[in-house]
Order: sequence, then C-alpha cells, then structure tokens
Amino acid sequence: MDVFTSAVDLLRDRHPERPVLALRPHAARRAANWFLANFPGRVLYAAKANDASVIMDALVEAGVRAFDVASLVEIERVARIPDAELYFMNPIKSRGAIVAAYRDFGVRSFAFDSDEELDKIVQETGGAHDLDLFLRLACPNTHSLIPLEGKFGVSSADAPALLLRTRQIARRLGITFHVGSQAVVPAAFGEAIEQVGQLILDAGVIVDAVDIGGGFPSRYPHSDPPELASFMQEIVRAAAELAVKHSCELLCEPGRALVAEAESVIVRVDARRGNALYVNDGAFGTLFDAAYSGFRFPARLVATSRRKQKPLAEFALYGPTCDSSDYLPGPFVLPECVREGDYIEIGQIGAYGRVLANHFNGYGEYDEVILTDEPMLSMYSSTEEPSVATKTKAGRTLPSRPSSDLSETGAGVAPASDVSSWGNAPRSARPLRDTRRCRMRP
Ligand SMILES: Cc1ncc(COP(=O)(O)O)c(C=O)c1O
Repeated sequence: MDVFTSAVDLLRDRHPERPVLALRPHAARRAANWFLANFPGRVLYAAKANDASVIMDALVEAGVRAFDVASLVEIERVARIPDAELYFMNPIKSRGAIVAAYRDFGVRSFAFDSDEELDKIVQETGGAHDLDLFLRLACPNTHSLIPLEGKFGVSSADAPALLLRTRQIARRLGITFHVGSQAVVPAAFGEAIEQVGQLILDAGVIVDAVDIGGGFPSRYPHSDPPELASFMQEIVRAAAELAVKHSCELLCEPGRALVAEAESVIVRVDARRGNALYVNDGAFGTLFDAAYSGFRFPARLVATSRRKQKPLAEFALYGPTCDSSDYLPGPFVLPECVREGDYIEIGQIGAYGRVLANHFNGYGEYDEVILTDEPMLSMYSSTEEPSVATKTKAGRTLPSRPSSDLSETGAGVAPASDVSSWGNAPRSARPLRDTRRCRMRP
C-alpha cells in the first residue's frame, strides 16, 4: 500500500476517482499501547469495528492477542493471527457456528444470555468441560450515544438462576455487559460493574471473570468525552468493590476507542448547491453513522495550492447514490470557498466506517493508502489541555483538539500504576458534555 505524509501529499501525486480510505496504523498502535498499559486486565479488540489488515497488524504489533469475534467469518479471519485468543461474544449464534468455532478453531470462550443459548452451546460442544462461559447482562443505555440495549442481555431478575446453572457447567464463569457505544461518562462502567457485584451477591456464586465490554469513547466534533484515564479510574474503583476482586480477571472489548482515529476518508466534491456538497462517499459508504446515528465527523479541505481557508462555513453532504436518505446533515465545517473538484478529508471514521460500507448503486469501491501524519482528533494527546475552539462563520463553536504532540506510546496519560492498583482512585468530576442522543443502529 502506498504511503504518504498527508492527504495533501497524496493529492500532489494523484487525483483519485474513487474515495480514498486513508489509514493511520500508528494511531491504532498508539491506542492499543495505551489500553494495554492502562487497563487493569485483558484487552480484547472487538474485531467488528475495523477489519483492515493494516489496522489489525498494527494492533497485533502493539501486543493485542485477544479478540472479541461475532461471527464465523470473523473467527476465520482472526484465527490466522498467530497466538490469537478468540472470544465468541455474540450472545446468539447459530449451531453450526458454535460447532465450527469449538471444533475447528479452538474457541473456548462463549457469551450467552438465556437458558436456550446455553443449551445450544452445551449440545453443540458435546457437553465439553473446558468452556469459559460469559453471561451477558442487560445494561441500560444511560450514558452512551449509540445504545446497545434491548437486543441482548438477561434481566437482573433471571440472571441469578442462570448464573448458578452455568457455574455447574463452566470451567470458568464470566459475566459480561455492554454499556453502549461511545459511552461518554465514566460512571457508565462504574454503575454496570456495581450491577455485576449485586448479581454475584444475589446468586452467591464465585465468578472468575468480568468482561466490561466495549463502549470506550473517541473524540468527535459533537462529543468531547473526558480523558480515558478517568474511565480506568472509575473501573478500578468499582472493581475494587466486587466480592470476587481477588480471584476475578477483568476483561474489556474496545472497538471504537482503538481504531476510530486510525482512518479517514478522502472524498471529492462532485457538485455544490448552496451549502450542500455532493461527494463520492456517504451513508451507504463509510459515513453511515453521520446519516443514521447523528454523528458529526471532522472535515478539512485538502488543497494542494494556496486557498483561502477562512472564513469557515457549515455544510451538509449528500452521498453519491440516488437515495435521498444518503444525506449527512453534519454540519461539516469547511472553508466557505469549497467548490466542485475539491477534495475533503473526513476524519475519525476508523470505527464502523469501512465495515458498514456496501455496494448500493455500484459505489463502495475505495482506493487505500497509508498516511503518516496525525489524526484529526485524538483521545491520546499528551496533555489534557482544554479543547481548542474553532469558530465557524455561523458563530458555532466546535471543540477540537490539537493532535500534533502525540507519541505512539500514549505518553503523558496516567501511568499504568495509577489505575492497575485496585484502590480508591478519584471519580471523574467532568460533566457530561454531549447533549445529543443518537438513534439505535438499525
Ligand atoms: C459484544 C461487543 N463487544 C464490544 C463491542 C465494541 O464496542 P465499542 O466499539 O463501542 O467499543 C461491541 C460493539 O457492538 C459488541 O457488541
């Protein structure tokens, strides 16, 4: 794959006809380094968030060896990674997928949320005695922008009996939950871990593992979460209160937080109508969440010649298909002079961007390059200085963070010892700044 120092460098070399997926593997590596150094337990990458081999390789280089997989296709793909440990955490799986996972790929860790699913796992593995079984709890979506509640999870009323039954079957017994994606308040995890603690007391069983799922946030123009260290502190605080804290392993399954920053899409403007830009990627491409989940992504004009970058204006985008829902309200903040033929870099699409793209209307084909510059926004900046505000012509103030002083090690964040000792770390005092609630991913 060709490597460029920036999107400008790319456009000096070529004028791509197709949208370009611009990968920044160093950003994925830095995020993984941070999680491996700061999470007090085992870090699984949720492979559904981004399956590009360059990104997966970067995570593996950083030391990630455990993966949350949701389907047999993901299992087949991830199993090629040497020493990969696979956790089949989709609470509902086909019988065929369970058999193949267990027999052909050596998967021993399975999530489930009902007696029926547990029966399936037991039957399809021939009553195996080497199963690590994770009961998925229902978890209210109190603090996240993409809810994952409703579809999966046993209720707290039904959980104790199911946990007790599973204890008789499992080699290792685990509890898991998902607080929703882009959780913007550390208490989301604290409250869910407290719910786990109560369940353990109610059921009166020893639990060997608590998997706190994904949900860790990234940074977007509409969502400027507190630093990740405050999430770790809250997790450590809550986990320290578990009755099983001395014997129980903690796990997490970040997707978004590991890869959101690691990819941009570079699109071309094919028409401008007022403040609407018609571009060559959209809702049926990598920008699904901008159309259907209320997400805003940072955007910048990629100019190879001197162009006036000010004043700024707010734009909506239309994707390339004939469907009028291929509309991204944004707003995307760009120089007011943007015109047909220009290229725009849209950042932070590394999580759930490429994996949601389809071929509707014959689109969905991309060029791919590696960029070595910094992502447009980052959770892994070396200092936690206040956000730098960008003012648009319409007077709106947008949060953004400089990403020029980032290192691959995640330097400057709380040292590992601050969060890996299960003590009484201070709770985050930063208020919830995100005001929008987003639609459930259809
Ligand atoms: C079981 C499970 N684990 C982890 C994740 C990753 O979540 P996130 O990308 O919010 O970190 C998901 C996302 O849907 C999930 O369903």
